[in-house]
Amino acid sequence: MLRFLTAGESHGPQLTVIVDGVPAGLALDAARDITPDLRRRQGGHGRGKRQQIEQDAAAVTGGVRGGVTLGSPVSITIANRDWENWRGPMQIEAEGFTAKRVTRVRPGHADLAGVLKYGFDDARNVLERASARETAARVAAGAVARALLRCVGVDVHSYVQRIGEVAIETVVAGVDWDAVGRSTVRCPDENASRAMVNAIDAAREAKDTLGGTACVIASGVPAGLGSYAQWDLRLDGRIAQAICSIPSVKGVELGAAVCAARSRGSAVHDEPRYEEGVGFAHRSNRQGGVTGGVSNGEDVWALVHFKPISTLLAPLRSVDIASGEEVNAHYERSDICVVPAGAVVAEAMLAWVLAGAALEKFGGDTVTEFMAAAEAHRRAVAQLR
Ligand SMILES: Cc1cc2nc3c(=O)[nH]c(=O)nc-3n(C[C@H](O)[C@H](O)[C@H](O)COP(=O)(O)O)c2cc1C
Repeated sequence: MLRFLTAGESHGPQLTVIVDGVPAGLALDAARDITPDLRRRQGGHGRGKRQQIEQDAAAVTGGVRGGVTLGSPVSITIANRDWENWRGPMQIEAEGFTAKRVTRVRPGHADLAGVLKYGFDDARNVLERASARETAARVAAGAVARALLRCVGVDVHSYVQRIGEVAIETVVAGVDWDAVGRSTVRCPDENASRAMVNAIDAAREAKDTLGGTACVIASGVPAGLGSYAQWDLRLDGRIAQAICSIPSVKGVELGAAVCAARSRGSAVHDEPRYEEGVGFAHRSNRQGGVTGGVSNGEDVWALVHFKPISTLLAPLRSVDIASGEEVNAHYERSDICVVPAGAVVAEAMLAWVLAGAALEKFGGDTVTEFMAAAEAHRRAVAQLR
C-alpha cells in the first residue's frame, strides 16, 4: 500500500515527508525528479514575498541507495529558508521562549476553527501547520508517485482554465504544454494569460485577491484502476477527496460535471466504440476517464476550483479571541492568487491517487514486477473482444 505523511510548520526549520510502499528499483534523484516540481509550485504571477525567500530543493534522506529505491520508506526534507527570520517565535525548545500571540483570527483560515478545537490562546499554533506551505511536501510525495507512473506510461499535467472572470474554454486533448510552461499563469492561451496577469495586478491594486480553476489531466492511464465494488475504492471518490484536501480548493469536478448537470443525457454520455488495432475506447471523454469508479482507458481529468485567497491587504473584520472585541484580521504576508501553484499541487494529488491505485492493481515488490504486470494487463485489454 502506498501512503505518505508530512510534518513541519510553515516557519519551522523544515518540511518532512515519508513515502511508504514504493517498490524497490525505482530510479529516483531529488534534483532530477522532485526539485523541478517544487520550483513549479513556487511560481506563478500573483505569489507573495515568501517565494522570493524560499528556493525549494528536496533532499532525500532515506530509502534510496545509488539513485534507486530500496523498498524501504523514502524520506524527503525541504528546508524552510524563512526559518532564519522566525527562530524566536517558532523556537522549538522551552527555555527562553516567549510567544508573540496571534489573537485576531483571520477569516477564511483555520485560525478560529483550530483555536476552538484545541482551546489554544494563540492562533499561531494553528496557522503554522494549516498553512499551504505543507503542500510543498505533498508535491515531493507526488513527484515520487509520478516517477512510478512514468514506468507504466502515465503522465500528469495541468493548466489554468480560469482566474477570476478571465477564462478559456476547457480542452483536454492536444493541450500545448510548452505554452503552459511559458505562461506566468500556466495558461496555454497567450491572450488569456495576459488578461489573467492584468486581473491579478488589478486585484492587488484594489488590495483584494482572486481564485480560479485549474484543469488537471493524466494521460496513458490503464483501464481498470479503482473499483465499483466498494464506495471507498471508487477512483472518482478518491481523486475528489485527495484534490479537495488542498487548502483553498472548494470544488472538484470529475470531467465536465457542472456542464453535464445542466444538459440532457443524450448530450453527456461517452459512447463506447471498438477500433481494429486500437481496441475499446469512447467517442468522447466528458466523464473524466472514470466510469462507475473505475478508470475506463481514457485520460483522467478534473476541474479544480480554488476560492480567492483569504488574506487581504485591506483586512476583513474579525474578532480578537483574547478580548472578544471586533477588530481587523491579523495580516500575515500573503499571495494574491495561487491558482497556477495550486494546479501543480493538484497534479501531485492526482498522481498520488493514480499511483496508489496502479500499485493495488498491478502489485509488485519491485518496479520490474510492477511494470511486467501492467504490460500484461495492457496486452490482455488490447486483445479483448
Ligand atoms: C499553493 C498555495 C498557497 C497559498 N498561499 C496562501 C497565502 O499566501 N495566503 C492565504 O491567505 N492563503 C493561502 N492559501 C490558501 C490557504 O492556505 C487556505 O485558504 C487556508 O489554509 C484555509 O483552508 P481552506 O481554504 O481549505 O478552508 C494557499 C493555498 C495554496 C494551495
